[in-house]
Amino acid sequence: MSFTLRAGESPARRNGVSRTEEPGYVRRVDLRTLLPRSTDTVTLRALEHRDAAAYAAGTADPQVRRFAHLPEPSYTPERVRELIDTVIDDGLRSGTLGVLAVAAAVDDGFLGSLVVYDVTPSSAEVGFWLAPEGRGRGAAAASLRLARSMAGDAGLTRLRARTMVDNVASVRVLEAAGFRPQGAPVSDTTPSGRTALVQEFAVGV
Ligand SMILES: CC(C)(COP(=O)(O)OP(=O)(O)OC[C@H]1O[C@@H](n2cnc3c(N)ncnc32)[C@H](O)[C@@H]1OP(=O)(O)O)[C@@H](O)C(=O)NCCC(=O)NCCS
Repeated sequence: MSFTLRAGESPARRNGVSRTEEPGYVRRVDLRTLLPRSTDTVTLRALEHRDAAAYAAGTADPQVRRFAHLPEPSYTPERVRELIDTVIDDGLRSGTLGVLAVAAAVDDGFLGSLVVYDVTPSSAEVGFWLAPEGRGRGAAAASLRLARSMAGDAGLTRLRARTMVDNVASVRVLEAAGFRPQGAPVSDTTPSGRTALVQEFAVGV
């Protein structure tokens, strides 16, 4: 699964990708061509080696451990740099996985992470977390709005997200970024391994 552009779609032209007349042609989008993108306060960009220490520290925060989906049990700065050079780089190039940095527009300093994953030809899921010092300034909602425009430029039509119903901050952030609940909450296993009510959200891009 990957971010895809069908022949002749405007994002392809915008990014200088040549059209093909071949019916059904699908082009994978290198997510690095769609980044960075910024609001007045926040930049969404590729994760860099200089973010490694702050990223690793952020993943140790109890709220992040409880609510965010972290593929590995723990992270060191060395491990983060290794991932940036391997899995994360591969994901950006192929358009299959976007492990991105949310940074302060003022100094480009790392605030947290936004991940685009489970990509289909029409939609993708997003997850996000902020380091404690990055919270309380609207950075997550702003980064989700940037992710919406990036997804639209990649040829997707919809972004999805899931959050526990008791994660009030996350629900408020998703709604501020335009996401709306889809159906009723369902019982599911959470990132920390417990069972909780999880609500699916979605938004058009
Ligand atoms: C979710 C998260 C990114 C939000 O950070 P943020 O963008 O700085 O959001 P804020 O702290 O400003 O909170 C957003 C809103 O929820 C409110 N809020 C936060 N915690 C709350 C609580 N426990 N009860 C009620 N309201 C709460 C805030 O007052 C704010 O309200 P506003 O929209 O009126 O300003 C951050 O808390 C985080 O990283 N949590 C851990 C990881 C996580 O939950 N990720 C989401 C997984 S889907």
